[in-house]
Amino acid sequence: MLRCSRRCRWYLLVALSAYLTEQPPPRAANLAPPREGSTVVIDGVSRAYPASAGPAAGVFGVYGTLAAGSFVTVSGPSGSGKSTLLNLVAALDHPTSGRLVVDGRDIAAAPERDRAQYRLRLVGCLFQDAPLVGELSVANNVMLPGLLARSDRRQVRRRAGELLERVGLDKQSDRFPAQLSVGQRQRAALARALMNRPRLLLADEPTGNLDRATGRQVMELLAGAQQEGCTVVVVTHDPEIAAAGDQNLRLLDGRLVA
Ligand SMILES: Nc1ncnc2c1ncn2[C@@H]1O[C@H](COP(=O)(O)OP(=O)(O)OP(=O)(O)O)[C@@H](O)[C@H]1O
Ligand SMILES: [Mg+2]
Repeated sequence: MLRCSRRCRWYLLVALSAYLTEQPPPRAANLAPPREGSTVVIDGVSRAYPASAGPAAGVFGVYGTLAAGSFVTVSGPSGSGKSTLLNLVAALDHPTSGRLVVDGRDIAAAPERDRAQYRLRLVGCLFQDAPLVGELSVANNVMLPGLLARSDRRQVRRRAGELLERVGLDKQSDRFPAQLSVGQRQRAALARALMNRPRLLLADEPTGNLDRATGRQVMELLAGAQQEGCTVVVVTHDPEIAAAGDQNLRLLDGRLVA
């Protein structure tokens, strides 16, 4: 039985749903070459959580276009709906109304099989507490999305090595997550998020638990992903990071105010 942190649930959902809904795969397919970022159109999206008392919570009537290859920041007070919005774009949750059009296709209305493939092949996710699988080495954690996507094992291993070097963890590749610092775990989670060369990289407060210097490192790595063409979306409470994006979405009580 895998020990699992709260956010680990996300990774297991991605892995299991991709595995269970996989169509007969082209075995040992090559890893996709670098590709362009996705364009995301948020078209009147709402996600209302039922409230037993008081006003409903969630996000309400959000419109916006995240341009391909841009660096988008999402800010707002605690409870304003930032994670809710990110989970919708990641297809981890369904909107109660509205459309989420990614590269011309409404992923909110897509069948679960397609949503699972979208999560596995097109999206990379990074959360504040870096949910690595505790029983796997750092290298195997990074390789996991490539293996789930049935890419060629040698290429997956090679890319994991390159990514671990890029995030400065090549010497820690045989360690287990519990043997890493918080910042190292976050960098390993970023390497894993980049394994399948996502078009869309979604990061929910990726620097929230890090000291300033390590936080800056992670932000530089995210900027590197953008330079490779990825559309990067970062939820942040840090006004400096929020201001540095090509576009800042500001939420208040579940509504977009900027
Ligand atoms: N599963 C859920 N069931 C009911 N209400 C929820 C659920 N998830 C979130 N909410 C509510 O929706 C609102 C938005 O939550 P969300 O997690 O998106 O906020 P946030 O902006 O990410 O906050 P933070 O900065 O603290 O992470 C909050 O009022 C929260 O209580
Ligand atoms: Mg949040």
